[in-house]
Amino acid sequence: MANLIDGKKISKEIKDELKAKVEQYKKEGKECSLAVIQVGNDPASSVYVGNKKKACEYIGIGSVSYELPEETTEQELLDLIAKLNNDKKINGILCQLPLPKHIDEDKVINSISPEKDVDGFHPQSVGSLVIGQPGFVSCTPAGIIELLKRSGIEIAGKNCVVIGRSNIVGKPMSLLMLRENATVTICHSKTKDLQAVCKQADILIVAIGKPQYIGAEYVKDGAVVIDVGIHRDENNKLCGDVKFDEVEPVASYITPVPGGVGPMTIAMLMNNCVSAMELFS
Ligand code: GUN
Repeated sequence: MANLIDGKKISKEIKDELKAKVEQYKKEGKECSLAVIQVGNDPASSVYVGNKKKACEYIGIGSVSYELPEETTEQELLDLIAKLNNDKKINGILCQLPLPKHIDEDKVINSISPEKDVDGFHPQSVGSLVIGQPGFVSCTPAGIIELLKRSGIEIAGKNCVVIGRSNIVGKPMSLLMLRENATVTICHSKTKDLQAVCKQADILIVAIGKPQYIGAEYVKDGAVVIDVGIHRDENNKLCGDVKFDEVEPVASYITPVPGGVGPMTIAMLMNNCVSAMELFS
């Protein structure tokens, strides 16, 4: 039976650490503030944005909300970001993705000042991660590193297989595991014999984006399994990319869905906001 990695509990620990820090800063007259932008009203985005604002409130980070209509032009959004880049009271800028189709996401990501890039999506942030310079790191992969470390799981020297090569999860995840001295393999839709590659993993990180795709046949005995997926199954129940019931008896550690990786993303976003204030205000 695997040990459950409790993301809810670990994210609460991180948020409580940040809350104490923010309280202390307030006593010194320093305030921390995040601008949250949502364009349109995609229901999933509204839930994520709502959770981010709630976390700000819990920790004591000020959040300034911009709920823009679907018809907002690219230029209007770029103008708002330019204004926020120059606003000394704003430490972090979060523009929830996906954006409506008529807006170029890359242009928007590139327009956020790297000093306020709390999502870690700007090319400068990503480049800094590649060459080992300081910079903001994408929140979900950063959260997974925290989950592993705070669960006492050693990373150095381990075979780590990451399934997925997205800019938000797979690529930064692989770089972070490399930075922690794992031997890293990145798998994707064109990987030959995915099962055989995954079977070699001491740490298997699954961000494949397909509900309950990874079964026990992909998992080495005693492997650590991290499930980044979040979907609704045929009964409308939340599930991940991993067949939890099948994989759990084989793994040594596993993240549940919900309550595994998900809560860590927001905790790390909050951490990036506080760092932005500490480093650049
Ligand atoms: N959409 C899905 N995940 C994220 C995230 O971490 N940040 C932003 N800005 N948009 C997202």
